[in-house]
Amino acid sequence: AAETGLDGWLRYASFPGAEDYTDQIPRTIVALNTSEVSPVLTGAKELEHGIASIFGVGCDVSHERSDDASSIVIGSLEAYMSHAEESIEIPELIEDGFYLDTTGKQTLIIGKNERGALYGAFEYLSLLAQGNVSSISYASSPDVPIRWINQWDNLRDGGTHGSVERGYGGDSIFFWDGVVREDLTRAAQYARLLASIGVNAVIVNNVNANETILNSTNMDGLARIADVFRPYGVQLGISLYFASPQALGFTNTSDPFDEQVIEFWHNVTDSLYERIPDFAGYLVKANSEGQPGPLTYNRTLADGANMFAKALDPHGGICMFRAFVYDHQNLNETRWKDDRANAAVDFFDGLDTQFMENVVVQIKYGPIDFQVREPVSPLFAHLPNTATAMELQISPEYLGQNVHLVYLSPLWKEILDFDLRVDEQASPVKSIVNGQRFNKTLGGYAGVAGAGMNDTWLGSHLAMSNLYAYGRLAWNPSSDSVDILNAWTKLTFSHEELVVNTIANMSMASWPAYEGYSGNLGVQTLTDILLGHYGPNPASQDDNPWGQWTRADADTIGMDRTVKNGTANAGQYPKEIAMMFEDVSTTPDDLILWFHHLPYTHVLKSGETVIQHFYDAHYNGSATSQTFPAQWETLKDCIDEERYEHVMFRLVYAAGHSLVWRDSINNFYFNKSSIADTADRVENH
Ligand code: GCU
Repeated sequence: AAETGLDGWLRYASFPGAEDYTDQIPRTIVALNTSEVSPVLTGAKELEHGIASIFGVGCDVSHERSDDASSIVIGSLEAYMSHAEESIEIPELIEDGFYLDTTGKQTLIIGKNERGALYGAFEYLSLLAQGNVSSISYASSPDVPIRWINQWDNLRDGGTHGSVERGYGGDSIFFWDGVVREDLTRAAQYARLLASIGVNAVIVNNVNANETILNSTNMDGLARIADVFRPYGVQLGISLYFASPQALGFTNTSDPFDEQVIEFWHNVTDSLYERIPDFAGYLVKANSEGQPGPLTYNRTLADGANMFAKALDPHGGICMFRAFVYDHQNLNETRWKDDRANAAVDFFDGLDTQFMENVVVQIKYGPIDFQVREPVSPLFAHLPNTATAMELQISPEYLGQNVHLVYLSPLWKEILDFDLRVDEQASPVKSIVNGQRFNKTLGGYAGVAGAGMNDTWLGSHLAMSNLYAYGRLAWNPSSDSVDILNAWTKLTFSHEELVVNTIANMSMASWPAYEGYSGNLGVQTLTDILLGHYGPNPASQDDNPWGQWTRADADTIGMDRTVKNGTANAGQYPKEIAMMFEDVSTTPDDLILWFHHLPYTHVLKSGETVIQHFYDAHYNGSATSQTFPAQWETLKDCIDEERYEHVMFRLVYAAGHSLVWRDSINNFYFNKSSIADTADRVENH
């Protein structure tokens, strides 16, 4: 399996010089917690496997603590303290955190809870696998409690296949032909990967949900998935179809104030908890893209969210309620002030104090939809009394669908570090999401992953750095993008400097390159808006009902989102930020067409005109992409043939596709504007 990618970054390959350390590696692993399904036992077995694989030495796993042998002691804080007479003081930890200490005779891996101990085991193994055998002693706790994955898996497509919406790695690992798969081997392997990066729950079905997830066969099936997740400390949750009570024939309404509807959801929730005592909760897409929701019954979004939250509350579950609410039938480009980017704040206006405590509003990072460049969603500044989570897309539908190389950590970090200046005080988005800024305990991240049955999980080996980075950033949003990547490369491919540096060079250049040849200056990814969001189609970006517009004509381009003359979206940001975006002269170039409608001849801060920037960026971005196959080729002797070829095929294809992007976008705007490229490259076709 090592060469296929199933193990991802958990290959535990040996490295040159590993044999020199074998004497220092403990040979006994003591698991302090004894339950068969305890993550502690999983951690102990993982240590045994990892150490054997890296160092070629066997370890014994036992439950007996003894003082004489050098050993690894792994367990929850509670289990550790129950042997208090032999214990040292453990630093302060928060839920899921761990303490790792290799300085004493015994290596200690102590979790705040059992899951935390497993995370500590993965951390220790990650260090060993990267060749770091130095003495260490530190505590590590997650920045946020919600570190979830959203899988947009369908129970079946038109035929039998359980497909994955916006997934590029094959069929669902959970569903087949309308029910949960018999063989859940891949679900367990996925849980292992996710646990190793600190992910603690997975929503297993599509946000565009279907009521059949709630029939008793499927509830039993979900319990089987939860059983294979549990040893990894991964909890299971599901997406709900708002009108399920009606669709299943229990009621003739799905009004959240109707008694029978309320009873229906209580019964469903109780049945789920009977089968799955550690069930994580619900994810709800309502009143969005044609889905029903509370507004359908003249109730508020909070009324809808609270209905689920009340049913979950006695069990400790969470309702993740999506802020991706908009009416795609009511947007009309002939109206200058129509703006989908306004929808979330408009719809949640006045609701901030209305949500129950176990409701978390899940907000996409930008106001529209996972574009190559968006400002942060202004909604993060509007909910000081509500828990929030940020939704990120790991398998990027608008960013090349894992065929193009786009390392996303730098994009995510720009959003996380952005200071919204709420009430004129420092308000980096990451401090809103983690609850610090507004004194809340709940909050976190939801990563839309799109993993599938493909041996690469996501459709490409290099795309796995995004899944890895998602987990690392959810644990610690201040981690460095290059550090994350280098660790991933060492664990996935090789420690060789050439490999590490080449993959870092390519990956760090990849988002700017993709932005260069797709959509610049905040105009959005100029992809095909109707057909799968893949490949260039700038014409489709206007006159569509989806509200993803560029308003390009012969002379001008961009959305006027100013208060003074446009859709007033800039005014949804806190004062200082609103002022910055309101004025062309203070709006950063990379978002200028997001907020302003400008002549192609407008001169940017860079000194270039808008149109010349388009031309140049498309040439430069595509030129960068064309260096990737040659860079990758230098690694031919360092990487196994299977993965080398798989990656090369995609890089060569993407380099070619970047030319298609470059020429179609440049020709389109040349034809529209009739303004020549000063370097004379763009021709009328
Ligand atoms: C995008 C995506 C859809 C998805 C939707 C959502 O529009 O293309 O596939 O259903 O977002 O996030 O709900």
